[in-house]
Amino acid sequence: MTKSGQLWGGRFTEKPHETFAEFNDSFRFDRRLFAADVRGSVAHAGGLLRAGLISSEESDAIIGGLTQLVTDSAIDPKFFESTAEDVHSFIEGKLIDAIGDAGRKLHTGRSRNDQVATAFRIWLRDEIDEIDALVRELQLAIVDIAEGFSDAVLPGYTHLQRAQPVMFAHWCLAYFEMLKRDRERLADAFERVNIMPLGSGALAGTGFPIDREAVAAELGFASVSANSLDAVSDRDFAIEFTSVCSLVMVHLSRLAEDLIIYCSTEFGFITLSDAVSSGSSLMPQKKNPDALELLRGKSGRVFGNNMSLLAMMKGLPLAYNKDMQEDKEAVFDTVDTVKISLRAAAIVVENAVVNEERTRDAATIGYLNATELADYLVKKGVPFRTAHEAVGRAVLFAIDEGKELNELSVNELKQFAAEIGDDVADALSLDATLAAKSAIGGTSPVRVIEALKTARTYLS
Ligand code: ARG
Repeated sequence: MTKSGQLWGGRFTEKPHETFAEFNDSFRFDRRLFAADVRGSVAHAGGLLRAGLISSEESDAIIGGLTQLVTDSAIDPKFFESTAEDVHSFIEGKLIDAIGDAGRKLHTGRSRNDQVATAFRIWLRDEIDEIDALVRELQLAIVDIAEGFSDAVLPGYTHLQRAQPVMFAHWCLAYFEMLKRDRERLADAFERVNIMPLGSGALAGTGFPIDREAVAAELGFASVSANSLDAVSDRDFAIEFTSVCSLVMVHLSRLAEDLIIYCSTEFGFITLSDAVSSGSSLMPQKKNPDALELLRGKSGRVFGNNMSLLAMMKGLPLAYNKDMQEDKEAVFDTVDTVKISLRAAAIVVENAVVNEERTRDAATIGYLNATELADYLVKKGVPFRTAHEAVGRAVLFAIDEGKELNELSVNELKQFAAEIGDDVADALSLDATLAAKSAIGGTSPVRVIEALKTARTYLS
């Protein structure tokens, strides 16, 4: 062997150029797959044993040696100091150093191509579980703040113009729903990650009588891949995962943007905790929503990773190509970014305070009840389009008078529609406006309390 754990020296007469080695080697990043690759190797050794390809002494030596590597990795700070090409050659090299010839049998019936795809999937399954748990934590924080400010009212916006009042909790639950879909997508992506490529060999399958299904069961895979060419060169699962994470980040960035706007002096709806804000080196008064800006900014990295993987896979001929080694860093960075972003978002939400007076004022100024007046007229038999036109003129009049609609007298309002009666004041109140939105999915307080209960049940 020319290099620690090198797996392919036999055919070569020259050593790899050091620049090529630096270019080619992936150990500096794929060592992250160490534990997963060991797990895959232990299960493969079991498969070899059951197929009669190694003796039980050899199997014990291999599994004992691999287990010892895991122990060593945890206690020896220099354990990973190596010039190995990748994590697979690193582990095999270490094993052979430790147990000798039995270790040289481990690679029977497998290739790094099915091995890496297997290890990557084993590793990613755990990460998907962790990400799902973090999305759930954020959902909890969202439901907590919704319940903590259950009476708060917020102006709802379209085009970032005041539109109609909504319950603050309703706004919260909008994000809850987005995250719920994200969790569904994570679970769905998990299904396609949880298929075992091991036993596909380099590309054509293995010629040894290894019971792939037994190996898969040992590794907790739901099934084995059906086509060896596809199995060693399929990175759909990585693309799907980064795509699901991209949507998580879209949602976090939208939450971040809403909160950045809401905590500005102009809005003043939300006060962020000092613990998630930072100051200015120059302007002593500043308290900047850096955590939120980073959530918004970091979403771009994740989209970029998704795009890298798509571009990396496009047009690749079957089966494995070294291009695919580029999959790791994109997925690793996605995992790291999404996890810290979810944690940061939860902390921001947990520590935010709603300035209820300010949001209530904002929800009552700016003709947010104009639609309510139109609906009032509809209930009196006026066709909606006619009502819309009449209320539009009433709004114009009110703007001129410097008043809100509910500050106009009944007589003033009657000029625009004779159907308007003394009951109009009640109909235009904030409470009535909110209560009216009582269809499923609407912001009436009754519906929102129901939705909060449903959310709690979902989380428990
Ligand atoms: N480090 C490689 C990767 O991540 C492992 C597979 C290498 N296989 C090969 N035939 N060169 O893709």
